[in-house]
Amino acid sequence: RLDPTGCPVSPNAAAFDPFADPYQQDPPGSLKWSRDGEPVFYSPVLGYWVVTRYEDVKAVFRDNRTFSPSIALEKITPFSDEANAVLARHDYAMGRTLVNEDEPAHMERRRVLMEPFTPQHLTQHEPMVRALVRERVDAFVDRGEADLVDELLYEIPLTVALHFLGVPEEDMETLRRYSVAHTLNTWGRPKPEQQVAVAESVGKFWQYAGQVLDKMRQDPSGPGWMQYGIRLQPQMPDVITDSYLHSMMMAGIVAAHETTAMAASNAFRVLLENRTVWEEICADQSLIPNAVEECLRFSGSVVAWRRIATTDTEIGGVRIPEGAKLLIVNSSANHDERHFDDPDSIDVRRDNASDHLTFGYGSHQCLGKNLARMEIQIFLEELTTRLPHLELVPGQEFTYLPNTSFRGPEHVLVRWDPTRNPEYRDP
Ligand code: HEM
Repeated sequence: RLDPTGCPVSPNAAAFDPFADPYQQDPPGSLKWSRDGEPVFYSPVLGYWVVTRYEDVKAVFRDNRTFSPSIALEKITPFSDEANAVLARHDYAMGRTLVNEDEPAHMERRRVLMEPFTPQHLTQHEPMVRALVRERVDAFVDRGEADLVDELLYEIPLTVALHFLGVPEEDMETLRRYSVAHTLNTWGRPKPEQQVAVAESVGKFWQYAGQVLDKMRQDPSGPGWMQYGIRLQPQMPDVITDSYLHSMMMAGIVAAHETTAMAASNAFRVLLENRTVWEEICADQSLIPNAVEECLRFSGSVVAWRRIATTDTEIGGVRIPEGAKLLIVNSSANHDERHFDDPDSIDVRRDNASDHLTFGYGSHQCLGKNLARMEIQIFLEELTTRLPHLELVPGQEFTYLPNTSFRGPEHVLVRWDPTRNPEYRDP
């Protein structure tokens, strides 16, 4: 596509900066121009090709040989020598887990590690999730105001993630800090003066993951997914490598909790901003499972993912050279009117809501999707039951950690009148 000056990069493509507004404010809305007229474009700011339409994003996810996921956890912004030296001092060596592994190694590993994600195994976690949510809500239900993120939606997915992985539930605050650093390290554009601090936390996170792993190896009999991998290692050392275990210990904590906490936070923001929709699900809780899908479509927590072209190819008729890096904006795909009717409205009865690409698609599709769905569903069931008259504190500004891919409000302030709680009893 040539503009009248002959420059192959259009003005919109040249202006695209995913680390700034308007992408940071509204990723899919900021790319409507692209979906409408230039659905595959090169971004000079990013050094990536950007893909924004549903069919194209899905096609890239589907073909993980032409479009390798090997760069999924690579730093999107190169760091200064000083920051790299900090990472080196901590022996930081994030390697291949599942999400960034190529075939055939990926499928071999995924197949042997899948069992703990099957529905029969996941149902075992449900009573724990419900009990945790009830306990947390008990702590604030009579108060009249809360920050849903700090008091419910962050810590429960973290607790569930650690429980699922088999990691001791301690140092939650430290892990929260580490996770922010991991997100900025992988998908952010920290300023040179911030990079050293980010690298310091990422390095410590890597060390922490190694220590947890060493301890687990001494007694890998526990029920967690990481212990499951450790027990398989002697039979298949080439599939379950040391590098895999160490990398997954760190990446898995983030994959399992940040994504889910942010998705739940997005869901509450969206539902409470669309009051009639919130009231609809309060009145009929059978709508909740589809409401979860619709929230994941409308405002998912993973808004863009990455692939690299392994050969000269094309996407939607646009030629893509071998080695091209791709930002595939699944949140934009989720708002593509070519696939979803009236995509910018939230409709908890939408019949194709679950076609969203928030969990990716194809052979790498999120393994933890049903665990995440279950958690968000329980959050909604409990709060629509116990605090149906909940509302957002008016005038609050929602803030987001600036990065290309992980998105959820840092705080969601809500208020209600405790005397109107359905379970209210005079003290
Ligand atoms: C992969 C999103 C929750 C574990 C992925 C991918 C995405 C994603 C976009 C890459 C898919 C692809 O390349 O096609 C999400 C979102 C979540 C969530 C939005 C919450 C709402 C979880 C949870 C766990 C988890 C709770 C673990 C308990 C994984 C794993 C992979 C993965 C292991 C790699 C799968 C593979 O490459 O074979 N997730 N995830 N995720 N996710 Fe999730």
